[in-house]
Amino acid sequence: MNASSDPEACKVSAALVQEIRARIERSDGFLPFDAYMEAALYEPGLGYYCNGLVPFGEQGDFITAPESGSLFARCLANCIASVLGQLGQGVVLELGAGSGVLAADLLNALQVLDTLPEHYCILERSPAMRALQRQTLRDRAPAFVDRVSWLDRLPESPVSGVLFGNEVADALPVRRFRWNPDGVRELGVALDSDSLCECERPADLELEAHVRQLARAYQWQGDYQSEYCAALPDWIRSLSDSLERGLLLMMDYGYGRGEYYHPQRSMGTLICHYRHTASADPFRSPGLQDITAFVDFTAIAEAADDAGMQLQGYTSQAQFLLACGIDRLMEAAGADGDTVRFLRLSNEAKRLMLPGEMGERFKATGFSRGLDQAVTGFTAQDLRSRL
Ligand SMILES: C[S@@+](CC[C@H](N)C(=O)[O-])C[C@H]1O[C@@H](n2cnc3c(N)ncnc32)[C@H](O)[C@@H]1O
Repeated sequence: MNASSDPEACKVSAALVQEIRARIERSDGFLPFDAYMEAALYEPGLGYYCNGLVPFGEQGDFITAPESGSLFARCLANCIASVLGQLGQGVVLELGAGSGVLAADLLNALQVLDTLPEHYCILERSPAMRALQRQTLRDRAPAFVDRVSWLDRLPESPVSGVLFGNEVADALPVRRFRWNPDGVRELGVALDSDSLCECERPADLELEAHVRQLARAYQWQGDYQSEYCAALPDWIRSLSDSLERGLLLMMDYGYGRGEYYHPQRSMGTLICHYRHTASADPFRSPGLQDITAFVDFTAIAEAADDAGMQLQGYTSQAQFLLACGIDRLMEAAGADGDTVRFLRLSNEAKRLMLPGEMGERFKATGFSRGLDQAVTGFTAQDLRSRL
C-alpha cells in the first residue's frame, strides 16, 4: 500500500519495490530483513535517505533534536568545546548529518565560544543528504562553509578531536528474529503475488547463537520477537580506530541491553515514521517512510571498550543537556527581555527535556582516548550501571 498522494513520490516507491522484488527473486524468495532495510533506506536514488525527498522537519516525517531549534546545538557546543579546549586544537567529525542544520548551528555556537575547529568534516552516506547539507550550511552558516569538508570514508590516519553522531546508529539496518523455546527464526521479506510480505526461515548459526544467549540472559518465556544490529560493533570499532585523542559521542533513542531485551518488550523496537505518524509496518510505502530500531547502548559500550576507549558516561538526553548548561542558556534568554523568543526556546527545551518527549528515551554516551579531564555533559547523571 502506498501512503503518498504525490505522483513523483509514488513513482520512486514503485521503482524501489521493483528493485526489491528482483532481489527477492534472485535470493530464492527470501530477502533477510537487514538487506531489505538497507535497500529501503539507502538504495541509490530510490531509498528513503537517497531519493531527494526531504524527510526532516514539519513538512517531513519526523523532527530530530537539532531540527527543533538551535538549543541542542548550543549545548552540544559546550561539550565539544570542553574537548577541543583540552586538546588545544582538533577536528570535529559529524556522522550522518541529515539536513545539515546541526552542523550549521554547531559552527555558529562554537564561534561564539571562540572554539571553532580547524576542520569540520561530515561523513554522510547519502549523496542527496550531502547536497542538502551544503545548501543548509550556505544558508545558515555562510561564514564557515569553507571549513566544512565531506568525507567518503573515515580518515586513514587517526585524528584528534570529536567524532559524533545524533540519530545515526538507529538508522543502521538490523536483523529481525522470532524466538520461542523450540528455536530461533530469522524474519525477512518474500513476495505474496506481487506484494512484499513478511516471512521467516530457520536462523543461521550466528543469529541462533546470539539470540539463544539473549534468551538465556533475560529469561524470555513464550514467543519473543526483536532485532539486533549486527553491524554496530564493527562500526563503533572503526570509529574508535579513527580517533587518536578525543571523544566519541553517540546520541540516540535506545536502552542498555537489559532494558532492550526485557522479557516484556516481546515485540522489539522497530518503528516506522511517515508524516509524523508512527507505524509498525516496514512494508508500507518503501522509500517514503523511515524505518528505524532503538539502539543497544551496551553493544556500543562493549565495542568501544574492546577498542581501548574509556567510558566518559551514559546518561539521558535531558541530563546531558543540563550538564551542558541548558538551564544557563534559558536563564540568559529570560533576562534579555524578548518574551516571544523566550517562549519559543521554552517550548524547544520542553521537547528536548521532558520525560514524555525526548528527555528520557534519548540517551547520550561518550568514550574518550587520551583526555586528562572530564568531558562536559556527563556530570549530572551516571546511568552506566544500566549498560
Ligand atoms: C535519522 S538521520 C539523522 C540526521 C541528523 N544527525 C539529525 O540529528 O538530524 C540519519 C542520517 O544518517 C545518515 N547515515 C546513515 N547511516 C550512515 C553511515 N553509516 N554513515 C554515515 N551516515 C549515515 C543518513 O543518510 C541520514 O543523513
